[in-house]
Formats: sequence, C-alpha cells, structure tokens
Amino acid sequence: MTSGPESKTPGFGLPGSGERPLSQGGISGRTWPPGEEGLRPHFRVLGIESSCDETAAAVWDAEAGLLAHEVFSQFDLHRAFGGVVPELASRDHIRRLLPMVRTVLEAAGTTPADLRGVAYTAGPGLIGALMVGAAVAESLAYAWGVPVIGVHHLEGHLLAPMLEPEPPAFPFVALLVSGGHTMLVDVEGVGRYRILGESLDDAAGEAFDKTAKLLGLGYPGGAALAALAEQGRGGRYDFPRPMLDRPGLDFSFSGLKTAAMLALRERPLDEQARADLARGFEDAVVDTLVAKALRALEATGRRALVVAGGVGANRRLRSRLAEAAAARGARVYYPRPGFCTDNAAMIALAGGLRLQGGERAGLALRARARWPLDELAPPPH
Ligand code: KG4
Ligand code: ZN
Repeated sequence: MTSGPESKTPGFGLPGSGERPLSQGGISGRTWPPGEEGLRPHFRVLGIESSCDETAAAVWDAEAGLLAHEVFSQFDLHRAFGGVVPELASRDHIRRLLPMVRTVLEAAGTTPADLRGVAYTAGPGLIGALMVGAAVAESLAYAWGVPVIGVHHLEGHLLAPMLEPEPPAFPFVALLVSGGHTMLVDVEGVGRYRILGESLDDAAGEAFDKTAKLLGLGYPGGAALAALAEQGRGGRYDFPRPMLDRPGLDFSFSGLKTAAMLALRERPLDEQARADLARGFEDAVVDTLVAKALRALEATGRRALVVAGGVGANRRLRSRLAEAAAARGARVYYPRPGFCTDNAAMIALAGGLRLQGGERAGLALRARARWPLDELAPPPH
C-alpha cells in the first residue's frame, strides 16, 4: 500500500451533527464539520471498488496523484468452490469496506473535509457486490456532504495507465483483457469510447482460468498457467488461432479451451508435457491478442496502445506487444501489474476526472450488473 504523509486521523462524521461518527471502531480525532470550499484546496477523491471478488479503496489527488490504495482479494474465500460465489463476495465486502476506507484515508493523510467527492464502481459486475460499494459510497458522500459518482468498471481499467509516471495521451486504442471482458476500444477522451471488437464467447482471462482448471491449477489460474507455460516448449501443441483468418476485430476463445480439453483427454501428460500444453495455449491467446491489437492500431491510425485488465499482467503478451508495436512506430502503455487487476485507484481516477469535468448525479444507489461501455458519455467539460 502507498502511504501518504502522517496527519490527523480521519473520522466518519455526519454533517451538521457534531460528533456522530458512522463507525466507532477505534477512530479518534475530529469528525468533519460541514466544510467550506476553502477547506479543500486539492481535488481529492475517495475511490471504492467492489464489483467482483476484490475489495478496494484508494485516495487520488488531481495534483499529487495517487495518495494511498489498498486491495483485498477474496481468492481464499472462493477457491474451494472453483469460482466466485456472489453471496460470499457481498458479505465479505460488507465486512471489509469501511475499515479499509478508514485505513486509506489515514495513509493518505486525508480527512473527509479534504475530499471533493466519492467515486465507486457502479457496474458491470455482481449485483450484490456492487450494491455494497454503492451503499457505502453514497452514504459516506451524503454524510460528508460531497458529490458522489458511480463509475463504469471498464472505464476504470481503460484509464488505469494514466496513474503511471508516463501516462498515455488521448487518443489511444485500448486492449481490455480481463476475466470478464476482452475488448478493443478506440478511446478519444473520457467517456468517448468506440468498441472496435470484443469476444463473442469466453473472455481471454476466462479462457486462461478454464484451461488452468483443466490442468488442475486451481482458481483463478491465469497467472499459474502463465508460470507453468514459462517451463514449456513452444510448438509442441498447435492450438487454433481463433478468428485470425477472418477480417474484423472480434475474438472467440471458447474453442481453445475445448482444444486443451481434448489434448488432455488423449493421454496422461507428464510434467513437461503439461508445461508444453500451457505454453501452446498461452501462445495461441497471445498471438491472437497481438494480431488483433495491431489490426486495431492500423484501422484507427492511432499510435498508442493501452493494455488493461488482469491478462495485461501476462509477461509473454507484454513482450510480444512491445516488439510488434515498436516495429510499427507505436507505443504500448500498461498500468503497473497491481493496477492491471481490480483496484480502486483506477475508480478514484476515473471518478475524479468526471467530477472535475463537472459531472454530478443525485443521491441514488447506482448498480448495474450489465452496462454497455458505449452507453457512456463524456462529462460536461
Ligand atoms: O481485471 P481482472 O482482475 O478481473 C476482472 O475484472 O475480470 O482480471 C482477472 C483475470 C483472471 O482471469 C486471471 O486469471 C487473469 O486476469 N490473469 C492472467 C494473469 N494474471 C491474471 N492471465 C494470464 N496471465 C497472467 N499472468
Ligand atoms: Zn476488472
């Protein structure tokens, strides 16, 4: 976790109510008196993420950048079930979110009086999990008397590389590769998104996870499969490169998982053969993603490619994309590995940019399990 300067301990006070902390859990120090704009020199936003199996909170400041962030992964909670159990996810978010908010505010040396807004993931995701973040964020914003904004989770992923020291400038093409989505998006600015192509079936991360499961690598097995592939030899397993022979920018990954299943059924595999299979699978996914990303750069004439989402942590994908883009005079931008996967820093940033752009919404719990990215519009200015 990133830490900010030491400072006053934040409280969860209600406006106009003197000392009435929302949470009594050992918080000392002052609660927020109804603030004036003068008390808030920096544009500082609290971000909350709870759309799936990560609980996260972060504080982002428009001038100083990211001040603090924390993520808790519920992997251990769901592992035995081989996938995320929505009800367990929601309950765990409830347990962790408020203490985590307190921790990041403290680490950021921030009191509620310093905040200009609260941003939370409003969708897409698991509806119960989203509702927890929405309820916490809307209540805190109401209590603190600051604006609140519901952020599209994928917009967070798309903008995540802007948290890094050398951020990309608009416009760029984004390759979004997560457990739930595989998408190529032309990004002209905040809220100006054109979907160029997407997966017609499994997402890239989902294909990694399902194949990892077949190999007995547990859940979510994407990173474990990639680690196993490091030991594997290329060319031993020749998996199909789905939809590469066709024009267009859509993807299809479900056939790959089937090919892996058939190969595993054929005969028992020793450790080296398992690694070779993992390598063959990874090469097929990476080849496909690289080829389509290059096609998207060509089709749009953009020279910057942003890679976001959990599969963006894949080392082979990173090195292959870097090579291929450099050969075409384009540059690839990534969030740091920890911000490829779900986090609240990207939500604080996206929400912060929208609030700075004058976007406002009334108090209401916003949570949408499904929410097409291209329904978004830019903020007023
Ligand atoms: O973006 P993310 O954290 O969650 C979603 O919003 O879906 O992405 C998680 C996905 C999982 O499917 C995980 O297996 C995959 O990213 N993943 C990887 C790697 N690290 C995480 N896939 C391939 N190689 C990796 N190194
Ligand atoms: Zn995600």
